[in-house]
Amino acid sequence: LKVDASPQLARQIPDTLFGIFFEEINHAGAGGIWAELVSNRGFEAGGPHTPSNIDPWSIIGDDSSIFVATDRTSCFSRNTVALRMEVLCDNCPAGGVGIYNPGFWGMNIEDGKTYNLVMYVKSPETVELTVCLTSSDGLQNLASTTIPVSDASNWTKLEQKLVAKGTNRTSRLQITANKKGVVWFDQVSLMPSDTYKGHGFRTELISMMLDLKPRFLRFPGGCFVEGEWLRNAFRWRESIGPWEERPGHFGDVWHYWTDDGLGYYEFLQLSEDLGAAPIWVFNNGISHNDEVDTAAIAPFVKDVLDSLEFARGSADSTWGSVRAAMGHPEPFPVKYVAIGNEDCGKKFYRGNYLKFYNAIREAYPDIQMISNCDASSRPLDHPADLYDFHVYTDSKTLFSMKNTFDRSSRNGPKAFVSEYAVWRSDAGRGSLLASLAEAAFLTGLEKNSDVVQMASYAPLFVNNNDQTWNPDAIVFNSWQQYGTPSYWMQTLFRESSGAMIHPITITSSYSGSLAASAITWQDSENSYLRVKIINFGSDAVSLTISATGLQARVNAVGSTATVLTSSNVMDENSFSNPNKVVPVKSQLSDAAEQMQVTLAPHSFSSFDLAL
Ligand code: AHR
Repeated sequence: LKVDASPQLARQIPDTLFGIFFEEINHAGAGGIWAELVSNRGFEAGGPHTPSNIDPWSIIGDDSSIFVATDRTSCFSRNTVALRMEVLCDNCPAGGVGIYNPGFWGMNIEDGKTYNLVMYVKSPETVELTVCLTSSDGLQNLASTTIPVSDASNWTKLEQKLVAKGTNRTSRLQITANKKGVVWFDQVSLMPSDTYKGHGFRTELISMMLDLKPRFLRFPGGCFVEGEWLRNAFRWRESIGPWEERPGHFGDVWHYWTDDGLGYYEFLQLSEDLGAAPIWVFNNGISHNDEVDTAAIAPFVKDVLDSLEFARGSADSTWGSVRAAMGHPEPFPVKYVAIGNEDCGKKFYRGNYLKFYNAIREAYPDIQMISNCDASSRPLDHPADLYDFHVYTDSKTLFSMKNTFDRSSRNGPKAFVSEYAVWRSDAGRGSLLASLAEAAFLTGLEKNSDVVQMASYAPLFVNNNDQTWNPDAIVFNSWQQYGTPSYWMQTLFRESSGAMIHPITITSSYSGSLAASAITWQDSENSYLRVKIINFGSDAVSLTISATGLQARVNAVGSTATVLTSSNVMDENSFSNPNKVVPVKSQLSDAAEQMQVTLAPHSFSSFDLAL
């Protein structure tokens, strides 16, 4: 494998090349990175008809001791459903009667940690509520407090800190009373006090995102943006402002309710916290099953312009002031927007697209706009700065797709490979094989990064209790998380964005099952020549790596080899064995301009030669 590292043949990879795509799918947000522990906190998930289903809230007590139903007496005008609880007993069972919420498949309550409870209550009489964090059967008491509710004939906000005196991964929040009386509840929230930067994100999941050093964050979908029907699409306006006032919505593509605590503002905040450029994918008046005629799209265009003012406007602009009131007077630097998701073939796509495109270009000339139409093999019939390219396929096909962009036009919009993954037959639940094919595909994107500006794996997260889409990069439950090989594969590309790429040639009888790239990059101490090689075949392969044109000698001290492999190509990680397929790093004591390496069967090796 020959690397020509001479400066005149080197090219800089875009700073933005590798980032992440976050979609509200698989409970990635609600019950995932958004740390809210209560599911259906406003009792809205059953819909506006009352009395409605309050799932997953459940009742403690029987027909003779308690009566619970929803009505529409909430103090919040955009989410009017509230819960009315009538305690019928005076000699109530021990422990009282009431309601409990199991969160998202159980709340992770940890010893010594503080949990912030907020709830809105109303009662015409004086009642005493007991609020507890308990095990799923209610028997183990992890934290408890009594809250007297008096003088609350109007809605009253109650706040309480609960400190856990034990650990239970599948806990529930229960609210009980043991005397006759009526109480209404609304917007019951329980948040751990140690969220990332106090911004409401689950810290350990954010760390896994940070470890990818993402250069951009595409959000919030995916199909989530579109909806099966427009009425269920993500609407940014409904997802901002005080959390209590957000109506929430049913995501009908992935089939679950979200309270929209993780809303447009929080996505922008997340981008900032990750140091990633926000890429706002907005609904363009098209869902999976219905479309707004271009003749009627103007209000949707205005809505998107408002969303951009919300992000970028000064604190005294109409929408910028709403952002400022939420705690972020400085604008968020939105420089990219995607006009819809996977809608290129739809009847009104082009018409709607142009309306959005022209209005945004005029108001924000610096914003780069992303079309849903693939221009990798033929020119677009409309203006765009970038175009989406999505690929989900088997591993052999994706491996061979490393050459996809070799033939793409060097003029016109750049590619945004905003969703790629191996799936179905040979993906398992995230196999080594899948990650090798994906790595090979990414070396092709590095090589073609004069026309490919960005790339992101999809989907990023899955709550193990709701795997709607398989495979995914990060698997979690209420308290654990692990990366699939596809996650770990991406960590070996995190230094590529902004690095210099060099031409390589491979001469080997195995070249059909090899993929490789060479970059130079720097950390705070050293420069490195990084040669990444994927051996997609089942034989070990010996290669001589020889580098010419380097600006400094290779230093064995500080040189390393990192290898992602396993004994079986279908091996996966799991909660019980999270590190079965992870990169293993070792010193490369024989690193030199010319060196011999042996690539294990089915492996991804990354050689960092210190310069
Ligand atoms: O990543 C899962 C889904 O795949 C996305 O929502 C959609 O854009 C694509 O079809």
